[in-house]
Amino acid sequence: MAWPRKGASPAGRDSPTAEPGGPRHVAIIMDGNGRWAQGRGRPRLFGHQAGARRVREVVRACPDYGIEYLTVFAFSTENWKRTQMEVSGLMGLFRTYIRKEARELLRENVRVRFIGDRVKLDAKLRALMDELEQMTESCTRMNLTVALNYGGRDEVARATRRLAEDVAAGRLDPADVDEETLPRYLDTCVLPDPDLVIRTSGEARISNFLLWQSAYAEYEFTPILWPDFTPQHLVEILERYGRRERRFGKVPV
Ligand code: FPP
Repeated sequence: MAWPRKGASPAGRDSPTAEPGGPRHVAIIMDGNGRWAQGRGRPRLFGHQAGARRVREVVRACPDYGIEYLTVFAFSTENWKRTQMEVSGLMGLFRTYIRKEARELLRENVRVRFIGDRVKLDAKLRALMDELEQMTESCTRMNLTVALNYGGRDEVARATRRLAEDVAAGRLDPADVDEETLPRYLDTCVLPDPDLVIRTSGEARISNFLLWQSAYAEYEFTPILWPDFTPQHLVEILERYGRRERRFGKVPV
């Protein structure tokens, strides 16, 4: 399968037609910003800034490859353990990104959602996140989900709490709880499961990202550090994905 799709119009701003056999939902663990900066003798935040520019580029490229949903891991529930300087630098970067990119995302017809626990985030950032979600809610060309203060276990725990509240209030019968039930309580309830999860920087772990949702995802680990990751690297991964056989537990016929 060749990317970009034949006939795909980079300038088109309508919703994409999914590439047959291509991933509808791609999720990315954007790793390696710190090492990229350190390799240049620069502070870690410099790497995160370069990483944010890559997010922009990859978001723009996705619809041309038939990708309808892109989910990026921007800040994990474990990332609070970093130095106060790095954490506040990242929070500032998220605020700047939203302010700077909002208009462009709207122009590109990209719907933005955030997943993760917002309670711990500062009020100004939360307000910007709400505003961007509302501003782009009728966009249809692509869906960008940013995982911010997100952890897969935390998400499942929060979902279970809400499910238990519904049981306690008599709104849900425990006998009706099956594997279709819990996903309705997850932050990702309106999203399809990811087909492909990519992690940059050579690390081969999932680090608490979309644990429930990735049960049948294909994984790709690339040595490229996130600030060096270009749409061309994405194309190479998509080509490999196109050659994979997804069996979902079945035996090929
Ligand atoms: C992991 O690299 C990256 C992060 C914890 C932050 C990701 C954030 C961005 C790419 C910037 C902005 C994102 C958006 C959506 C605006 P690392 O710091 O762990 O790298 P290292 O493993 O080399 O130290």
